[in-house]
Amino acid sequence: MAERGIETSDEWIQERTGIAQRYIAAEGVFSSDLGAEAARKAMQDAQVSAEEIDLVIVATSTPDMVFPSTACLVQQKLGIAQGFAFDVQAVCSGFVYAMATADLYIKAGKVRTALVIGAEVFSRILDWNDRGTCVLFGDGAGAVLLRAGSSPGVLAHRLHAQGQYADILRTAGGIQHGKATGHPFLTMDGQAVFKLAVEVLESSAREVLADANMPADQVDWLIPHQANIRILQFAARRLKLPFERVVVTVNQHGNTSAASVPLALDVARRDGRIKAGQNVLMQGVGGGFTWGAVLARMTI
Ligand code: UT7
Repeated sequence: MAERGIETSDEWIQERTGIAQRYIAAEGVFSSDLGAEAARKAMQDAQVSAEEIDLVIVATSTPDMVFPSTACLVQQKLGIAQGFAFDVQAVCSGFVYAMATADLYIKAGKVRTALVIGAEVFSRILDWNDRGTCVLFGDGAGAVLLRAGSSPGVLAHRLHAQGQYADILRTAGGIQHGKATGHPFLTMDGQAVFKLAVEVLESSAREVLADANMPADQVDWLIPHQANIRILQFAARRLKLPFERVVVTVNQHGNTSAASVPLALDVARRDGRIKAGQNVLMQGVGGGFTWGAVLARMTI
């Protein structure tokens, strides 16, 4: 990572966060573009056509515009002409919020095939003079398909929010008459977020494991939100899971907010680590303050 204009060093960043590189979207590339590209790959992988998708949810805090939703823009880009589409805004917990929502629509019998996407261009809301945040975040997208089936893929999920912590991580700029106003950049009390993240990653993991009646040692892969390698190490230690079972991509992508968990899932599936039949515990934590966990059994 280049050390440009601010007092930082690659050594500090790697040691304190584990981040070695990240991706920044080119000018003119938006969350809907990244999301649509990730969705195309997921659809190809799962051999699902645009005609089969009856729900699109995009988890993002960096939508292309005030409205339409990024989900509608993705729907348009993919030529999906049926069903419904909306965004979920839960910052770095967005993907698990979206997964839980899609699962409930499927289990209620309202939806057969849902496309769930996490897509972000956080580089656009960074203050490049704030070394406490600008070295951490990157852009990206990941996507999964959920389908109704005879045996459940999603075994359990839990979501939480505590708005009393709204101030520790936020982008306070507002939208007034369609225009961004106020401070448009992300601000964070890193230590406060760190401490809460470690706590809630443990508690939400224990909740979904209890709901699914599964001992922790049956988790094949743990995919916590990729914010900081030290948080991932704490999470694994507290659950007594060997660190080899944690998927780590924060070194490659930085913190991509709602995209971090589906990106990590994709990396570990494509490199052959995550296999059909395995139990994967995915966790989000971030602004709001929000957090949540989804325990799933992979079908492909
Ligand atoms: O995505 C939502 C979830 N987000 C997270 O989970 C982020 C959670 N927080 C963190 O990952 C960490 O708190 C950070 C990576 C943000 C910061 O690491 P830290 O070990 O908590 O550092 P710190 O804030 O305690 O700062 C230690 C020192 C300070 O200097 P002094 O006051 O000791 O002189 C900072 O000013 O490190 C300094 N510092 C830096 N130095 C070089 C902060 N950022 C940098 C930097 N380069 N980029």
